[in-house]
Amino acid sequence: MKVGILGGGQLGQMLANAARDLSIETLVLDPKPDAVAAQITRHLIADWEDPAALDELAGCDVITYEFENVPVATVERLSEDVPVHPSPDALAFSGDRIIEKNLFRELGIDTATFAAVDSRADLDHAVREIGLPAILKTRRFGYDGKGQAVLRSASDLDAAWERLGEHALILEGFVPFDREVSVLAARGRDGEMRCWPATENVHVDGILHISRAPAPEVSAELLASAVAGLEAVMARLDYVGVLVVEFFQLGERLVANEMACRVHNSGHWTIEGAEASQFENHMRAVTGMPLESTGVEGFAAMVNLVGEIPSLSPLEGEAGVHLHVYGKSSAPGRKLGHVTVLADSREALEERLQRVLDVVGDRASDAS
Ligand SMILES: Nc1ncnc2c1ncn2[C@@H]1O[C@H](COP(=O)(O)OP(=O)(O)O)[C@@H](O)[C@H]1O
Ligand SMILES: [Mg+2]
Repeated sequence: MKVGILGGGQLGQMLANAARDLSIETLVLDPKPDAVAAQITRHLIADWEDPAALDELAGCDVITYEFENVPVATVERLSEDVPVHPSPDALAFSGDRIIEKNLFRELGIDTATFAAVDSRADLDHAVREIGLPAILKTRRFGYDGKGQAVLRSASDLDAAWERLGEHALILEGFVPFDREVSVLAARGRDGEMRCWPATENVHVDGILHISRAPAPEVSAELLASAVAGLEAVMARLDYVGVLVVEFFQLGERLVANEMACRVHNSGHWTIEGAEASQFENHMRAVTGMPLESTGVEGFAAMVNLVGEIPSLSPLEGEAGVHLHVYGKSSAPGRKLGHVTVLADSREALEERLQRVLDVVGDRASDAS
């Protein structure tokens, strides 16, 4: 069995690792010569639409992706010859914030108020309708908070339009959430779905900082409504693979923010913290293998290493602490690695997590 992976960043690296443990061969396409998945597997350095590279990938048994902004033409070309999971449809829905929110609404999943913005006049109109504060975002290609502007007062509009106005945009009402929670699930080719426990996420400057799982104090009703939402999305898209939906929680209400049709940063804790990781179950799903248990014993937290890798030697060999360094070059705001912490109780988890933050730095307190 050979799986072609579109995109060779850290997600591709961790997918290729999981594949190796399952004796699945992988082949990565990424135009970047320094794509870090190449440390694990064969890497085609070529443009997304390079015919020779696509011919070679079409020889795989199945194609999947770790990067959502693959050109439609690439995926269409490949799907002529080989199954692509998740389906190209899923990619189209998750690639545009307006199409995605319309899908959520069609399926009865709550979202922030939103409006399409294609001109300066649209922006004024949308602000009158939605009110302030609000967030102006590019409809496509955004990640880690890039391509976003928070509008707090009418005087913010000109600068935001100046910066983002050349793109197709969405204005979203600001959701005054109590916290952010993501739910990850895998769905097999046979339609079997397995969910990991909900994950609580803290973002700093739009970039994930810390995840905790299982998210503390999630009521059974809240979890059931989130899972029902993912089930509906997966059924609608005939989904195969791992899907994540990021939610805002306000009291007992969940508002869907966005989804990703791939493995996700908020599921990195599953490598050590769950029986099967998101990477393993994604590989199992797309190759038609039965899914493994998403069960969890104890408690997990994950901290991202962003911008530069601090000295990690004080943490080496520490019980319950797992270091992941992807081998990427440093750059401000770039995710370079993560640390996962495991413990038997929440108290022990928070203690260990604090020790890790003392060593790697706490972006939350740096920012304030
Ligand atoms: N409508 C909103 N209301 C409140 N906070 C938001 C809203 N949209 C985004 N954010 C904040 O910004 C973060 C990044 O935004 P998101 O839409 O998830 O974009 P990205 O694709 O960059 O992850 C969110 O996790 C949340 O913390
Ligand atoms: Mg997000």
